Amino acid sequence: MCISNKIGPPVEGEDFFGREKEICKANRLLDRNHSLLLSAPRRIGKSSLAKRLIEEKKRQGWKCVYIDLEETTTEDGFLRLVIEAFKKNGVWKQFAEGMSKGLTSVLDRIEKVSLGPVDFNLGKREEQEDLYKNLKELIKHDEDTFIVVDELTLFLGLLNKNEKGVEKVAFILNWLRSLRQVSQTKVRWLFCGSVGLRNFTSTINLGYTINDLTEFGLDELTHEEAVGLLTGLCKSEDMDMSCELVDYTLDKLHWNIPYFIQVIFSKLAEEYDGEITGENIDMAYNKLCSENYLSTWSERLTEYREYEVPARQILKSLSTQPTGMEREAMMNILMTGQEVSKIEEVDYILSKVLEMLENDGYILKKESVRTFRSPLLRDYWYNKFVQ
Ligand SMILES: Nc1ncnc2c1ncn2[C@@H]1O[C@H](COP(=O)(O)OP(=O)(O)OP(=O)(O)O)[C@@H](O)[C@H]1O
Ligand SMILES: [Mg+2]
Repeated sequence: MCISNKIGPPVEGEDFFGREKEICKANRLLDRNHSLLLSAPRRIGKSSLAKRLIEEKKRQGWKCVYIDLEETTTEDGFLRLVIEAFKKNGVWKQFAEGMSKGLTSVLDRIEKVSLGPVDFNLGKREEQEDLYKNLKELIKHDEDTFIVVDELTLFLGLLNKNEKGVEKVAFILNWLRSLRQVSQTKVRWLFCGSVGLRNFTSTINLGYTINDLTEFGLDELTHEEAVGLLTGLCKSEDMDMSCELVDYTLDKLHWNIPYFIQVIFSKLAEEYDGEITGENIDMAYNKLCSENYLSTWSERLTEYREYEVPARQILKSLSTQPTGMEREAMMNILMTGQEVSKIEEVDYILSKVLEMLENDGYILKKESVRTFRSPLLRDYWYNKFVQ
């Protein structure tokens, strides 16, 4: 078996390449009882890494759970996903003598949840609080357990838009925090999200609910890993590519995240006729700029809510300036058509937008100049939104 070309979903098993250092670090932290926050740019390989960690921990005999919150938009849906995933993986306690009536009744409903709709009385706040308190008590805290919650920020962002949204978000974050605070708990968590959870919680004054999480970073592949991935993909399809051309491709991509390597490879494979030339690589790159492989970066800007429009204005201008822009020039763009009295407000908006775009890997700050982090993304943006 060898690696195969996968573009889109998280990669697993043989298709997962590299990241040894990160896996080792995450393993060490989890073994020392840390819960982690993996908040990294779009498409960098967060979910793939999380799934690989699950494979590792399963091998060590831990109970593991993967919950993808992209699958739900409501509180009820959240609860259902958690209950079902915990049930499937044996995280809930069993019925036992002397268990309170409250716990027995919740366990009874948990048992029935996979059979069809079960009413958890989410309507009334007190009943809801009771339910969550009981659920907390029903978790087996004395067994090594690893729970991955993917796309938490995306889900909380949607929940936040509802009536009493902040209250709902606060409730869930506080509940999750209380689970991590159970004395001697052996349950460890990994929360993944593209949009910085820290940004999000701090804007609604809930920063304290995630302060106990250990920040875990993920960036581009090392040069050796990037070379290994591209060469491995070529080998799997019996394609010849010289070392010089591998370097040429990686230099051209500049920001070597595995997704970019996978998509450019897929274009090269489509046109392969026995050899790869520099011209083929340029053509594959240009195709990527005009097709939809990178559209996710544009689509996900809706998560920026009121900051989406200014973010788009900034990205559009930056895509025309390969050498980058200073803050003042960006202020001028956002101030166009605005009254002078708005200057402070716009200045704040710009700070916020730049912070979000940096966290999500769209842009990079070097001294006082911002540029697109990836020339591929910049050329795509220019093609799509300027030209
Ligand atoms: N370790 C890896 N080895 C090979 N390819 C990878 C690896 N990690 C990521 N990829 C490539 O990147 C794509 C996206 O990976 P993944 O879904 O894990 O990223 P993500 O950061 O979770 O993305 P999103 O921001 O959309 O949630 C995969 O389909 C694959 O093409
Ligand atoms: Mg993901």
